[in-house]
Amino acid sequence: MRYISFGTRQTKVSEIVLGTMRIAQKTPEQVAELIQTALDCGMNAVDTAPIYGPSETIIGKAFATRPGLRDQVWLQTKLGIRPHPRVKSNYFDFSYEHIIESVDNSLAALQTDHIDSLLLHRPDALMEPEEIARAFQELHDAGKVIDFGVSNQNPAMMRRLAKHLTVPITTNQVQVSVAFTPMFDAFFNANMQNDAAVMRDGGILEYCAEHNMAIQAWSVLQHGYFGGVFLEDPNYAELNQTLERIAADHNSTPTAVAINWVLRYPTKMQAIVGTTRPERVRQSAAACDWQMSREEWYEVYLSAGNALP
Ligand SMILES: NC(=O)c1ccc[n+]([C@@H]2O[C@H](COP(=O)([O-])OP(=O)(O)OC[C@H]3O[C@@H](n4cnc5c(N)ncnc54)[C@H](OP(=O)(O)O)[C@@H]3O)[C@@H](O)[C@H]2O)c1
Repeated sequence: MRYISFGTRQTKVSEIVLGTMRIAQKTPEQVAELIQTALDCGMNAVDTAPIYGPSETIIGKAFATRPGLRDQVWLQTKLGIRPHPRVKSNYFDFSYEHIIESVDNSLAALQTDHIDSLLLHRPDALMEPEEIARAFQELHDAGKVIDFGVSNQNPAMMRRLAKHLTVPITTNQVQVSVAFTPMFDAFFNANMQNDAAVMRDGGILEYCAEHNMAIQAWSVLQHGYFGGVFLEDPNYAELNQTLERIAADHNSTPTAVAINWVLRYPTKMQAIVGTTRPERVRQSAAACDWQMSREEWYEVYLSAGNALP
């Protein structure tokens, strides 16, 4: 396993993180086993969120079943996505009251006294940075949260927040996979007259690298917006052939190669894997066993159906 030095305490956190968005049907014992498998592979980081149904509660119960387990884990949760009481949709809430209440609820559900990293989950158009700053400072002073970050935010949003926050923004969690590459597409086509040149994200990767922030990639095995797993998908035949060939060259697996590709971006990079099966946790952890060459990285990008100028 490889590790990055994360946040204000330079905590040693694994590049592969166990995501828990899909554990609603699992028992606390099964989730304890999943976390223990991750730890055995050197993955010491768990990501969750209150919007992932009972995920936080199940993790809390998993910790309770195995004394000492919580202390071995770097624990990240999020806040700000709320089910709308009347409309069949979520909405976003970064108000002072919601931030404080959400963290207290997360602490209770997770059966812990602190959260290692807390992320603003999806941008709230009505956010008032002064309010967020006040809530973050209070949570920090009370020892409830160690580090703070964002998710799905562009540089303009992060810059505006950073002006007011008294704590650093340590990470941005964004969607990246070999089959979801708009940030790289815009990078390669800068100032060209084709569609790929349209930079919709405003340069998130560059902003994070410039500010020494960790970039956490979510849905590393999915295409589209929760479009499904691209591995073994006939629509991604060429990509799968390339992943299989590179896997064979390194005595690895297509899963590990796909994650390896995401981690190859040369900054503080983490991949959040969402599997609920211990054997796939082990496969994912093996993504850190070697580093992909430039030639392999570009071959994977091209075989996913992309072109380079
Ligand atoms: N910040 C955000 O907005 C945001 C959004 C989405 C997700 N996240 C975070 O990112 C984490 C990962 O997201 P994700 O779950 O979408 O990631 P993912 O790792 O790309 O997908 C996991 C899913 O793929 C399946 N899978 C894995 N390997 C497979 C294979 N070889 N063949 C077929 N299916 C396979 C898994 O099934 P099995 O369980 O059966 O292995 C699981 O259902 C989440 O848990 C959450 O923590 C954050």
